[in-house]
Amino acid sequence: MEYSKWLYALSEECRREFKGRRMESHDLNHSMRVWKNAEKLGKEFNADMEVLVAAVFLHDVGVAHTNDLKHGKESARIARKALERIGFPEGKISSALEAIEQHDDVKKQRKSLESKILFDCDNMDAFGAVGVFRYLDIYAKRGWGIREIAEHVCENVKERFRNLHFRQSRKICRENYEFTRKYFLKLKKELGSNYFRKKEEKREN
Ligand SMILES: [Fe+2]
Ligand SMILES: [Fe+2]
Repeated sequence: MEYSKWLYALSEECRREFKGRRMESHDLNHSMRVWKNAEKLGKEFNADMEVLVAAVFLHDVGVAHTNDLKHGKESARIARKALERIGFPEGKISSALEAIEQHDDVKKQRKSLESKILFDCDNMDAFGAVGVFRYLDIYAKRGWGIREIAEHVCENVKERFRNLHFRQSRKICRENYEFTRKYFLKLKKELGSNYFRKKEEKREN
């Protein structure tokens, strides 16, 4: 497989960016989970596997430097240098960077197959037991409280599933999606209703 020769170098680039940073929701292990599904879909859809593997392993390197929801541009900036450093085919760099830059933009109309596959497989990792951890970890790092997270994720998780491009993607992650959706619904329920929170807030003011 032509593309597998990039796996080691790309993993090392990703590992290096996250070194010394506790960012388990978006580090190399996340990319490896994304790749597991992306490799499957990429082969099925006849994607450019070199572009895909580069996009997957570098799509979140920007998160090593910013907690921002929008980190695709920062990832692309770092990824360009990484791809040049490892001698990645020049003619494929812009396609990989396009997928990386677009991966965090829900509203973006993705044109390339590789960009769609990255988007789907990245979102799949928000589901399941790992997905629950990732949601809690990243939003806590962004300074959100548990109640805010629960309310936001109950909607966000449905949107993520709805936005998947491929029927095959939904098939792969449906069970994990249901797990995450139910977890956050239960969390929201256990935390209590808005009614009491609003009363508490009023008393504090
Ligand atoms: Fe991301
Ligand atoms: Fe990601």
